[in-house]
Amino acid sequence: MMQKKEPIIYKEDTLFLLDQRKLPLEEVYVECKNLEQTHNAINVMVTRGAPCIGFTAIFGMALYVKNNLDFSLASFKEAAEYLKSARPTAVNLAFEVDKLVETITRDKLTSTDCYNKIVEIGHRELKKSEERNRAMANNIIEHLTKTTGDRKLRVLTHCNTGYLACGSIGTALGVIQVLSEKKLIEKVWVDETRPYLQGSRLTAYELNNLGIEHNVVVEGAASYLMKNNLVDAIFVGADRIVANGDTANKVGTSNLSILAKHYNIPFYVVAPSSSFDLSISSGEKIEIEMRPEEEILEYKDLRIAPKTSQALNPSFDISDGQLITGIASELGIATENYIETLKGIVE
Ligand code: MRU
Repeated sequence: MMQKKEPIIYKEDTLFLLDQRKLPLEEVYVECKNLEQTHNAINVMVTRGAPCIGFTAIFGMALYVKNNLDFSLASFKEAAEYLKSARPTAVNLAFEVDKLVETITRDKLTSTDCYNKIVEIGHRELKKSEERNRAMANNIIEHLTKTTGDRKLRVLTHCNTGYLACGSIGTALGVIQVLSEKKLIEKVWVDETRPYLQGSRLTAYELNNLGIEHNVVVEGAASYLMKNNLVDAIFVGADRIVANGDTANKVGTSNLSILAKHYNIPFYVVAPSSSFDLSISSGEKIEIEMRPEEEILEYKDLRIAPKTSQALNPSFDISDGQLITGIASELGIATENYIETLKGIVE
């Protein structure tokens, strides 16, 4: 197994982010020394994945305080709103930043104490992610293996939900890692995940490092795989899970949920409790981030579509709660009647 590169490192008052735009070809870090650089790194996806966006934001607020030791509560809140605008769909960003605002307001922290406290929170949350990810993986595996027993599984996943997105073993990819540790994985189908290629660049990179057998497939192959009985279960992450179980995740996830229902394949959503937003009643109220057209029309600065063509690039879609077999966090798993059961596992 290769030495893994940490996606987020904070030391000597500097935030080092593994540049996920360059993986797997180059393993280089981008340095952030202030709030604006952190906002930009989240926006252009140097760092990405809902949980890691949240952790990055904590350190971004630490940098804000470091550079503005005479800050007021009002200016702290303003900085928080600015950082939250970097990417709108993953609720983890707002979740972590709003929690900091609450802490600073409650504890009336100022200057250096405040800085040290925020840095400590950032390190603590990153550290806790492994325990949380393992707990959610065990919740899913316990549910799934009631029907699959100890047979080895062919599983499909979308986007990247491993340590690059989550800081530790990951959410959906964490389930796959734990299944693999239990010798219950036969094959992982990795959706390439157009247009940013989180699957072929990042998930395949992580699975390679872990030594887990996998094949990259185009998203359009999902129906082929399911119809030919080559998929036993599907695991995906989430950027926002709302009260009725509707789930925003990387565009293409919703297609999988519909196919899974058609072919009667278990379709699980795996995410930390910071990805739940029960203040929203249903998925159509989630803001879907629109990303630049160039992500589709170009590849590494080379134009691949006709010069006059335009693109539409929604970065996420919504899977209907009713199509989801189970939604798991570190706190438990819900498998039906989400309006009631999700409250139970979050509160
Ligand atoms: O646009 P990204 O790469 O930041 O997308 C977020 C994701 O990684 C996925 O949607 C993921 O499934 C949820 S985060 C583990």
